[in-house]
Amino acid sequence: MLNPFDIVIFGGGGDLALRKLLPAMYRAYQEGNLPEGSRILPTVRGQEQQQEYIETAHQALKSFLSDGEFNDKDWQAFSTYLIPVVINVTEADDNWNELHKILNSDAEDKSRVFYLSLPPAVYGQCCEILSSKGLITETSRVVVEKPIGYCGKSAEEINARIAEFFKEEQIFRIDHYLGKETVQNLMALRFSNALFENLWDAKTIDNIQISISETVGLESRAGFYDKAGALRDMVQNHLLQLLCLVAMESPHKLNAKSIRTEKLKVLEALRPLLGEDVDNNVVRGQYVPGELGGKIVPGYLEELAEGASTTETFVAIRAHIDNWRWSGVPFYLRTGKRMKQRCAEIVVEYKPVSHNVYGNNVGPVQPNRLVIRLQPEESIQLTLMSKKLDKHEMQLQPVTLNIELSDQYENGFHSDAYKRLMLDAAANNPSLFIHRQEVRRAWKWIDPIIARWQEKGAPSLYRAGSWGPEAADELLEECNHKWFNVG
Ligand code: BG6
Repeated sequence: MLNPFDIVIFGGGGDLALRKLLPAMYRAYQEGNLPEGSRILPTVRGQEQQQEYIETAHQALKSFLSDGEFNDKDWQAFSTYLIPVVINVTEADDNWNELHKILNSDAEDKSRVFYLSLPPAVYGQCCEILSSKGLITETSRVVVEKPIGYCGKSAEEINARIAEFFKEEQIFRIDHYLGKETVQNLMALRFSNALFENLWDAKTIDNIQISISETVGLESRAGFYDKAGALRDMVQNHLLQLLCLVAMESPHKLNAKSIRTEKLKVLEALRPLLGEDVDNNVVRGQYVPGELGGKIVPGYLEELAEGASTTETFVAIRAHIDNWRWSGVPFYLRTGKRMKQRCAEIVVEYKPVSHNVYGNNVGPVQPNRLVIRLQPEESIQLTLMSKKLDKHEMQLQPVTLNIELSDQYENGFHSDAYKRLMLDAAANNPSLFIHRQEVRRAWKWIDPIIARWQEKGAPSLYRAGSWGPEAADELLEECNHKWFNVG
């Protein structure tokens, strides 16, 4: 069991805090993982919001928790952990002294987590005030959200600013995909099953697809999203992190240092995409109106309501990892908004058998396929070839072994990536957080793609409710591959 901790959520009234961070802490409470004596201190801008905060949190939990999770008794108990405080994160005024008083009213060695649920542009200022007000102790940690920066240079600046006030081991860069149960299970699957570990390289695997499709559009994030686009919002972090976990060598221990070292090697071995490589290996798309879930939804430009924009809402990439294990295996990365179905999955397509003893008249021998689905449901499927058992003559058919992981959760457990990661930050366990060097390396690979796009071309259009632009299908067809689309 964790020791009691204090978590200050800067931007406590913002969308992320209300939609994800408070529900995560509420779930931790329900599971008995929020130690008594812990305190959650969301910051708000003024006294009015402070007075209303408990009710705001109440309503947020009611709407963002799933059915059956919210109940009045737990809420009453959980609300006693909440202490809203007024803070202007860019002004070192007296309100900070109040925060100081609250935090210092408890043991000096109590874990302190500062969660910056803020725009990266103010990270530096906020950290500076934390430092000048004497709030950073040996047991303090700072959690920062992705994407860090808009390019390698701005990310370096932000990281350097934070590093003026916190040591690297106190900085927890969050990527919520790493907190997903199935993503951690990916490591368990790879590193505790000889079956997979021995069949996990270019000799046996033909290609790997990592795809995160979303049905949502811009939501209310036009200001952020139109500047960022899918490459910065999803590929630079979530997709590259998944790629690392799929492709890395086994860490020699399951600690942060070993895991990060192996992930970094993957990022370093990613073949750079420069100039024309970008035209040939990357597809960027933007959605136009289309039918999704039985109704017509507007296109990106209509949602944006600002006329022209070449921001991509879809990206597909053919990537290669130039090392011994993965030589010649294409890794296809894909993500998009307003796609046909919400799904995140890793699809490992094996090579065909080396000699088909059955010939073609018993049905084609399809290569094996392993599908690790992260959402909406969490499952692992392995497709194998088998004999059609009720036929006298030999006929083959694919059969799928299916493990539904959510069936294995104990009653009352809710898989919640933020809960896992916030508790890890409180427990000072950085294994599932991102090191500064990983951020640097990821941007080094992404920056030339952005540079090429700035020079040349416009996004290919795709209908909302489709699987993306045709160019993305053609990218795979060039290598005789095909996207594995759920459903
Ligand atoms: C966030 C992106 O990091 O991840 C969003 O900023 C995206 O644009 C979200 O919608 C997807 O997360 P999940 O867990 O719903 O797949």
